Formats: sequence, structure tokens, C-alpha cells
Amino acid sequence: MISEVKRTPGGAILLDGIKLRDETVAKIKSTIVAAGSPKICLATVLVGDDAPSHIYVSNKHKKAQEAGMVSRGVNLPATATQAQVEQAVAELVADKSVHGILVQLPLPKHIDTEAVLSLLPVEKDVDGLTERSLGRLVRGLKGHVPCTPLGVMRLLQSYKIETKGKRAVVIGRSALVGLPQMLLLVGRSADATVTVAHKSTSDMIEVCRESDIIIAAAGAARMVTAAHVKPGATVIDVGVTRIDNKIVGDVDFEAVQAIAGAITPMPGGTGPMTIACLLENTLEAARMIGAI
Ligand code: GUN
Repeated sequence: MISEVKRTPGGAILLDGIKLRDETVAKIKSTIVAAGSPKICLATVLVGDDAPSHIYVSNKHKKAQEAGMVSRGVNLPATATQAQVEQAVAELVADKSVHGILVQLPLPKHIDTEAVLSLLPVEKDVDGLTERSLGRLVRGLKGHVPCTPLGVMRLLQSYKIETKGKRAVVIGRSALVGLPQMLLLVGRSADATVTVAHKSTSDMIEVCRESDIIIAAAGAARMVTAAHVKPGATVIDVGVTRIDNKIVGDVDFEAVQAIAGAITPMPGGTGPMTIACLLENTLEAARMIGAI
């Protein structure tokens, strides 16, 4: 639970993902220590030289180690074949000392991503991205939930933002964020009424202005403006667009913070929570496999 609340110049509560991530990492570390420090291993598979992907993966390793886990990175060149990528994943699946596996996306265009992901068993799919994990989420069965939408839910819970009976809009319909986010918000533990908006939504401003909670996950720089936001609404930015080597979110923070009741900073909001939830899922993977 977040104790001391920071506010933006306009008075909105700042949903501090760095603080909540650090608290989550510390909690995971104390759980592992209390269990006698078993070796819990997160493995990553990274194909190619995409610089942002290398940064994301190295941050995941750093935080896994801070949480008292061990981490293993398998890096393959951009020229790796389908068979080589599948072989690397299959070896990690067979390795009993590995508890969670993350295949960093996007894979190079010549690789069949679905075929690679389908090799992951539900227990080790700590990113929650395989068709079986997503199917289990739809059916309400135990499994890993995708880390970014789970991180959004953790922020809402931690700052006691009411979702029950509220109207939420998710902008974006990706399998990585938008669709699982919709399922989590509409699910019985959040109980929101959810609209999913996307490129072809014709009345985007009206749909957003009706919403108590806006989750922007479109990857469209600063598309959520002051005009989209009902006074007092909660606005969560999941968008990442690179412009001139700077990361820009989907929300025009300066304008929106003056109207919103609560808002995520960018960076420092949902990004750190994605990593926190990856580590939560890895701890849970170790539990499922009986290692802790
Ligand atoms: N690429 C961008 N975000 C993510 C993520 O959360 N998981 C994976 N596997 N790849 C990503």
C-alpha cells in the first residue's frame, strides 16, 4: 500500500510506479529469503539487436537480481532461424532450474512468433502471452496474467481507485495489453463496465469523456488530450512512442494532469510496474512448480 501520496501541479494524485515497483521487489525478496533463499530463475530470450528491447531485457535482469532471483539471458542474432529460436526456448522449457521464461517481443519478422510462444507451458509463461494463458484468463482459471495490464491493476488497487461499477475505457486492442486489460477490468474482482476503443472508434472524445478510468494503450503519442478527460477521472498511460530518441506516452501529461483526479507519470508509471509483475509472476511460477 502506498503511504505518502504525491500530487501533480494541477492537484492530481501521481500514480508512482517506481515506488510501488520498489515495494513489490522488496516484498518478493523477503518472501524468497523467508523460504530459505531457493534459487528462483527467470530466463529471457532476446533475438536481434533492437536497442530498446536490449534495454528492457537488461532492466528485467537487474530487477530480478535485486529481488533475490537468479536470471539467465539467451541472446540470439537477428539472423537466427526459426529452428534455432525454437531450440533455445525448448531447452529452457526442459531445464528444471528455470522457473519463468520471457521471450522478448517483437521477434524479427522472419520468425513465426506464435510457433515460438506455443512452446511455453502455462507454468513457465510468466509473460502470460500464450494462447493457453490468455484462454485461462478468459475462463478465470489459474495462470499468469500479462504483466503490463496486471501492473495497471496493481496501481489502481494500491491507490484505492474504485473500479466497481465505474466506467473504464481501454484505448488499444493488442493481445499484449488492451485485450487482457479489458478482461481484468470487467472481471469480478474489478467489476468495471468497460469499453474498448481503437483506431476506428469514431467518437473517441465522447467515449473517453464518459469514463471514470482511461487506460491509453494505443501507441499514439499524446493522443489523450484535456478534451478527452472528465474532471476527476483516472488516466493511465501505457503508450510508448520514440520521438527523437525520447519516449513519449499516449497522454498529453501537462494538459491532462490539470483535469484528472489521478494520473501516471511517463516515464515512471506503468513501465516499472510491468517489471514488478513479471517478478510476481516468476515467484508464482516457482510456487506452481513446487520450488518454494
Ligand atoms: N515487448 C514490449 N513489452 C513487452 C512485454 O511486456 N513482454 C514481452 N515479452 N515483450 C515485450
